[in-house]
Amino acid sequence: MQPPNGLLKPSSKVAVLTGAGVSAESGIPTFRGNGGYWREHRFEDLATPEGFARDPKFVWTWYEERRRGISRARPNAGHVALAEMEKRVAAFTLITQNVDGLHDLAGSKNVIKLHGDIWTVRCLKCGRERIERSELNELPPYCACGGMLRPGVVWFGEILPEGAMERATAAVRAADVLIVAGTSAQVYPAAGLIPMARTVIEINPEATGFSDDVAYSLRGTSAEILPRLVP
Ligand code: OAD
Repeated sequence: MQPPNGLLKPSSKVAVLTGAGVSAESGIPTFRGNGGYWREHRFEDLATPEGFARDPKFVWTWYEERRRGISRARPNAGHVALAEMEKRVAAFTLITQNVDGLHDLAGSKNVIKLHGDIWTVRCLKCGRERIERSELNELPPYCACGGMLRPGVVWFGEILPEGAMERATAAVRAADVLIVAGTSAQVYPAAGLIPMARTVIEINPEATGFSDDVAYSLRGTSAEILPRLVP
């Protein structure tokens, strides 16, 4: 299916849901695709509070490797198109499951990070959260208060950042169009936003469980297709 010509207009209210696929063309692996993290690793070991409690050094070593890879990555044409789209339409909310910060780097402003941010760390003892961009030499790292630090991301079985889902739901319900790009749409509650939308444009090189039900299911990469949707 071709991108619908002129579907997005300067008067459009747009919400966007992104997943790991939008960063694939920046060289960051996805989770469930070919070469994806969950093809090689058990998510129970790396992305659950129980896994972290069992072996914090193992979990931190993986996060530190990802942080290093992400620090070398640059936004691609898909990220840039979304930042441009935000400037050109009447209302725009970008809801992302990604923790890599590439939407911020591309210039997107109204971003809801459902799964947190890999550049933040949180103390398990005092609860303080801060941005930490520098390389962490001692793993696991510790807070000045003596507590162990954990990555500021959401793991399986954890609740999302306060208010994030409420704001995302309101944006999707208020939007004329929801663009769903680069997500396998298998993880909830994020995937639950899709059936709430009036009109959905899905962008993915592969079919997902939602492809047959959405108005436009566009087969291709986000760096190819998103620039063509900017009004
Ligand atoms: P997945 O790895 O599950 O899905 C990535 C999707 O991107 C797949 O459907 C691919 O077909 C598609 N894709 C690959 N390359 C693409 C490209 N260049 N352009 C567009 N699409 C492309 O990643 P997510 O759906 O983001 O959560 O996964 C959701 C959550 O599961 C993640 O946030 C993470 C993970 O476990 C946590 O860690 C809590």
